[in-house]
Amino acid sequence: MKIRTLKTLLWFLAGFGLVVVFLRILHGVGSVVALNDILPWGLWKGGGVVALVPIGGAGFTLAALVYVFHWKRYQPLARGAVLLGLACYTTVAVGLTFDIGIWWRIVFPVFHWHLHSTLFEIAWCIMLYLGVLAVEFSHAVLERMSYPRLLKAVEKVSIVFVILGIALSTLHQSSLGTLFLATPYRLHPLWYSDLLPLLFFVTAIGLGCLTITWVALVLHRVYDVEPPMGAISGLARISAAVLGLFLVLRFGDIVLTGKAPLLLVPGWEMANFWLEVLLSAALPVALMSRRRLRESPVAMFWISTSAIVGMSLNRVNVAGLATLHSTQGHYFPIWPEWAVTVGLLAIAALAFLYGLEHFDVFPNIDQAAVKRAHDPGKLDPASWRTIFFHAPLSSVRLYSLALVLALGFATACLPDNAIYGVEPEKTPTRPPRAVQLQKVHQAPGHISRFVFPAAPQQVPAVPLSDALLIDSDDNGRYVLFEHDAHAARLKEQGGTCASCHHANEPLAQATSCYRCHTDMYLSEDIFSHQAHVEHLGFNAGCVECHADPALAKVEANTTPCATCHPGMHEDDSLVEPAGPGQRMGHRAPGYKTAMHELCISCHEKNESQIEGLAQCTTCHRDTPDLVEISAAVQVTREDAHR
Ligand code: HEC
Ligand code: HEC
Ligand code: HEC
Ligand code: HEC
Ligand code: HEC
Ligand code: HEC
Repeated sequence: MKIRTLKTLLWFLAGFGLVVVFLRILHGVGSVVALNDILPWGLWKGGGVVALVPIGGAGFTLAALVYVFHWKRYQPLARGAVLLGLACYTTVAVGLTFDIGIWWRIVFPVFHWHLHSTLFEIAWCIMLYLGVLAVEFSHAVLERMSYPRLLKAVEKVSIVFVILGIALSTLHQSSLGTLFLATPYRLHPLWYSDLLPLLFFVTAIGLGCLTITWVALVLHRVYDVEPPMGAISGLARISAAVLGLFLVLRFGDIVLTGKAPLLLVPGWEMANFWLEVLLSAALPVALMSRRRLRESPVAMFWISTSAIVGMSLNRVNVAGLATLHSTQGHYFPIWPEWAVTVGLLAIAALAFLYGLEHFDVFPNIDQAAVKRAHDPGKLDPASWRTIFFHAPLSSVRLYSLALVLALGFATACLPDNAIYGVEPEKTPTRPPRAVQLQKVHQAPGHISRFVFPAAPQQVPAVPLSDALLIDSDDNGRYVLFEHDAHAARLKEQGGTCASCHHANEPLAQATSCYRCHTDMYLSEDIFSHQAHVEHLGFNAGCVECHADPALAKVEANTTPCATCHPGMHEDDSLVEPAGPGQRMGHRAPGYKTAMHELCISCHEKNESQIEGLAQCTTCHRDTPDLVEISAAVQVTREDAHR
C-alpha cells in the first residue's frame, strides 16, 4: 500500500471515531455502547486497554536489551519501540477516559490516594511510565532540534529513566493480571489462575518483541526500504523462548491445579482456548524455532500477526469473553464502539507516522525515503485524478477531504440513540417497611448489631425494637433505620419531625420521603402544571399563579407554592431549600441523594460519639436475605394500609 493511501484511510477512520467520541461526551457513555450492569467491561476496556498495554510492551523490552544489556544488534528497533510504547499508552489513557462514566474523573487517582486498589497502582504506573517514555523519546526530538547541551544532559540521566521505565512496566503489566485475581467466580477456570500476574508479564515481553517486529516490517515495506532483519530475527529467537516459557507455565499450571480434564470438555470455551493458545504461542514458537523462517520478512510478518491476534484474544478472553459462561450476560460491541476503537488506533498510527517522518526513528527510513514515498508520481494524463483535478490532489487536501467526508458519513450512519442520547432508565421508589428487630449493644462508643428474631413466637432475650426497612428500589439491598429512636433522640435536642420531613404533600404532615423522591437516582419534578390547571378550573385559574399576564411565564413571576400550600415546606429543617431566593424548589433529587444528604451529614457531625458512624458499613450492613427474615418480619403500618 502507498503511504498516501494509508494515511487517507487513517484520516477517514479517525474522523469516524471522533464523531462518536464527541457524542459520547455530549450524551454519556450509555448512548454509544451496548454494555450493561452484568458486563460493564466491553470492547474499550477489554480490547482497547487491556490488550493495548502489552502491545506497548515493546518499549521496555527493547530498552532493556539495548540500554541495559548493551546488545547493539537491537539498536535499529529501539527508538521505534519507544515511540510505539508512547503511541499505545497515550491511546490507552485516552480510551480509558471515554470508558469511565464521568470522564473527567480520569484525573482522580492523582488526588484520591486509594492505596489498596490495584487500579490505583496501574493508573499511577501508566502515568509515570508515559512520562518516562516521553523523556526517552525526547532524545530524538532534541537531536533534530539541535539543542546539544540539553541533549547531553538528557543522555546523562537517561539510564535512570530506562531502569525506572522497566520497573514501572514490570509493575503495571503484572498488575493488570492481578486485577483479574478478583474474579475467581466469574472467570472460566481455564483462564483463571494464581499465576495471572506472571503470565501477563511474560506475555507482555513476548508480545512486545513481536509487535515492534510487525510494525517495523509493515513500515519498511510501505516506505519501500530494507527491514533490519538482523534485529528482527534476534527478537524472534527471544520471543520464541519467552512464549515457550509462557506455554510451559500455562499448561503446567492447568495440569498441577487439576484442571486438565477441562481442556477436552467440548464447548466453545474449549475451542476458544485452543485457538488462543495456537495463535498466541504454539504456532509462533513452532515456526520461529526454524532459522529460515526467522530470517524471512514474509514469514515473520505472518508469525507476528498470529501472535498479536492470539495474545489480544487472550486479553479479551480474560477481560470478558471467558466470563460469559458464569454471568449469563450477553454483550456484543455495537459499531459505534468499534468506530471509537478503530478511530483511536488510527489517530495513534497517524501520530506514530508523524514521529517517524520527522525524527530519526528507524535508520533505514530516512528523509530521502520519506520523500520518495510521498511523491504522488508522474502526471498520468489518463488518470481520473488528472482529468478532474488537473493534477493529483496534494496530500493535505486529500487528507482533509477524507476527514470531512468521514465526519459527515459517520453522522449520517449513527443510530438515533447516539445522536439524541438515551433516556436514563427509571428506578421507581417504594415505601419503607416497618420491622421489629433485636438490637444487641456491643461496647459503648461502637455501633450495635441488629438481629432478626429467629421466629416471631420465640420469646426473645433482648426486647424487640421498631425499625424501618428501607429498600426503596426493591432490589433486596436494604438499610435498617431505627426511625422512632432517631426521632426521640432529635426531640431531646429540640428537633421535631420536620427536622427530617422537610416537605409535605398538601394538608399532610411528615409525608414519607418516597412520595416525592420518586426515583432512586434521577431528580423528578413534584409540581405538575397540568394537574394544577385541572385543580384550579382550567383557563379561569391561570391568573391564580400567573397574576400579571404581561410578565414572562417563568417560575420567579408565579405565586409561591407556600401561598396555597402553607404546610408544604417546613422552615425549621435540617434540609435547606435550594430554590431561587431560599424558596423551596420543586425538583426533588433522587432518593439515594436525599437519604445520603440527610443521614450522612448528621452522622458525620456525631462521629465523635460513635466510631465509624459515617462509614458506609454502618448503614449498609451485611444483612440477611429478605427471604430468610420474612418469617420474622411484622406486617405494620405502611404495609397494612396498602
Ligand atoms: C439528626 C442526626 C441523624 C440523622 C439525620 C440520622 N442519624 Fe442515624 N444516628 C444518629 C446518631 C447520633 C446515632 C448514634 C446513636 C447511638 O448512640 O446509638 C445514629 C445511629 C445510626 C445507626 C446505628 C445504630 C446502632 O446503634 O448501631 C444507623 C444504622 C443509623 N443511624 C441509620 C441512619 C439512617 C439510615 C439515616 C437516614 C435515613 C440516619 N441514620 C439519619 C444521628 C442521625
Ligand atoms: C447514614 C446511613 C448511610 C450511610 C453512612 C451510607 N448510606 Fe448509602 N444509602 C442509605 C440509605 C438509607 C439508602 C437507600 C436504600 C434503599 O432505598 O434501598 C442508601 C442507598 C445507597 C445506594 C443505592 C443502593 C441500592 O439499594 O440500590 C448506594 C449505591 C449507596 N447507598 C452507597 C453508599 C456508599 C458507597 C456509602 C459510603 C460512602 C454509603 N452509601 C453510606 C444510607 C446510608
Ligand atoms: C431522623 C430523621 C427523621 C425524623 C426525625 C422523623 N422521620 Fe419519619 N421518616 C424518616 C425516614 C428516613 C423515613 C423513611 C423513608 C421514606 O419514607 O421513604 C420516614 C418515614 C416516616 C413515615 C412513613 C413510614 C412508616 O412508618 O409508615 C412516617 C409516617 C413518619 N416517618 C412519621 C414521622 C413522624 C410523625 C416523626 C416525628 C415524631 C418523624 N417521622 C420523624 C426520617 C425521619
Ligand atoms: C412533598 C415532597 C417531598 C417530600 C415528602 C420529601 N422531600 Fe426531600 N425534597 C423535595 C424537593 C422538592 C427537594 C428539592 C428542594 C430544593 O431544591 O429546594 C427536596 C430536597 C431534599 C434534600 C436536599 C438534597 C440536596 O441535594 O441538597 C434532602 C436531603 C431531602 N430532600 C431529604 C428528604 C427526606 C429524608 C425526606 C423524608 C423524611 C424527604 N426529603 C421528603 C421534596 C420532598
Ligand atoms: C399552580 C400555579 C399555576 C397555574 C394554575 C398555572 N401555571 Fe403556568 N406555570 C406555573 C409555574 C410554577 C411555571 C414555571 C414552570 C417551571 O419552571 O417548571 C409555569 C409556566 C408556564 C408557562 C411557561 C412554559 C412552560 O411550560 O414552562 C406557560 C406558557 C404557562 N405556565 C401557562 C399557563 C396557563 C395558560 C395556565 C392556565 C391554563 C397556567 N399556566 C396555569 C404555575 C402555574
Ligand atoms: C394557586 C394555588 C396553588 C399554587 C400556587 C400551587 N398549588 Fe399545588 N395544588 C393546588 C391545589 C388546589 C391542589 C389540589 C389539592 C389536593 O388535591 O389536595 C394542589 C396539589 C398539589 C400537589 C398534590 C399532587 C397533585 O399534583 O395533585 C402537589 C405535590 C403540589 N400541589 C405542589 C405544588 C408546588 C410544588 C407548587 C409550587 C411550584 C404548587 N403546588 C403551587 C394549588 C396550588
